Amino acid sequence: MTRPTQATVDLSALRHNFSVARQLATGAKIMAVLKANAYGHGLLPVAHALAADADAFAVSCLEEALPLRLAGLKQRIVLLEGVFGVEEIPIAAARGLDLVVHSLWQLEALEQAMLPNRIDCWLKVDTGMGRLGFAPDQAGMIAERLQRAAGVGNVYWMSHLASADNPDNPATDAQQACFDELTSPSGWPSSLANSAGTIGWPQTHGDWVRPGIMLFGSAPLGTPGLRPVMSLEAQLIAVKNLPAGHGVGYGSVFVCPQDMPVGVVSIGYGDGYPRHCGEGSVVGIQGALVPVIGRVSMDMLCVDLRTVPAAGIGDRVILWGDAPTVDEVAARAGTISYELLCQVTPRVPRVYRWKGGV
Ligand SMILES: Cc1ncc(COP(=O)(O)O)c(C=O)c1O
Repeated sequence: MTRPTQATVDLSALRHNFSVARQLATGAKIMAVLKANAYGHGLLPVAHALAADADAFAVSCLEEALPLRLAGLKQRIVLLEGVFGVEEIPIAAARGLDLVVHSLWQLEALEQAMLPNRIDCWLKVDTGMGRLGFAPDQAGMIAERLQRAAGVGNVYWMSHLASADNPDNPATDAQQACFDELTSPSGWPSSLANSAGTIGWPQTHGDWVRPGIMLFGSAPLGTPGLRPVMSLEAQLIAVKNLPAGHGVGYGSVFVCPQDMPVGVVSIGYGDGYPRHCGEGSVVGIQGALVPVIGRVSMDMLCVDLRTVPAAGIGDRVILWGDAPTVDEVAARAGTISYELLCQVTPRVPRVYRWKGGV
């Protein structure tokens, strides 16, 4: 018997969500963003499930890219932050990885590199995100140097949207206008859209879209039709009837208002369930949404079973999945689905399922 706590990853749902991205961005290629262990879902199983369909994968660093190559995946793989040191350039070349180039030192290193083969590069421009990338007024000069650099093969344009998850924010149109003005004269392929851009801003699709979170079923802009990929599950491992006035958990922040059944669930912040959720958060038991009570502990949390009196030891508990969704839990915890999914800790086994057809 193992601890009854796991993250079930529905690969059919993943492929379904990919097909939604494909329909939304007809005509664009899709670079599936699989950084941070595929948003916590497991890099290799996710990559294999998408291998037949994704035009490219994007990861944040060499350490995330090399396992994909070692597993035999032949896709274009883009390092979204490029190299972190010059010594990574020959490794990227040898493994056929694409590099984002966002800083002058990276350009200079590529100009000086003696490589057996050329590296395709994505010139990153900061059109408003204020994070990585060259200023728009430098981009033309950098593009010319990049094109001439001995170690560089094809060049593509890339920028990142800062506010596409807000449909009313005019910043996205401004970023797109800036990007189009820079990129159109060269004729090089371009990539601007993340999930929110893919879903809500068709004019940003360009040649390559870069969806991440939508592949995992979380919905920027409330997209209909996406299916949750991860179901975080545990079990009721104890049920007790506590008298009115009895405290529950550390600090006794919850005090039973009446005699009541309390369930103890085999998951806590040591598994990545957010401690900040606190009271007011819900879990799924026997199809009902049941309140979390008291403080979340490292390995356990407690729930109020008054509305599900038939609940008993061994019942499955859904922390997030179909209901409640990870977006609902994230809102309760004052964070975003990305953080909760990435934070599921290594001790939680990921179990892969093909639930429906593909
Ligand atoms: C450069 C870049 N492109 C694309 C993505 C995918 O974004 P999302 O998960 O919002 O689709 C990310 C993720 O943060 C990113 O950093």
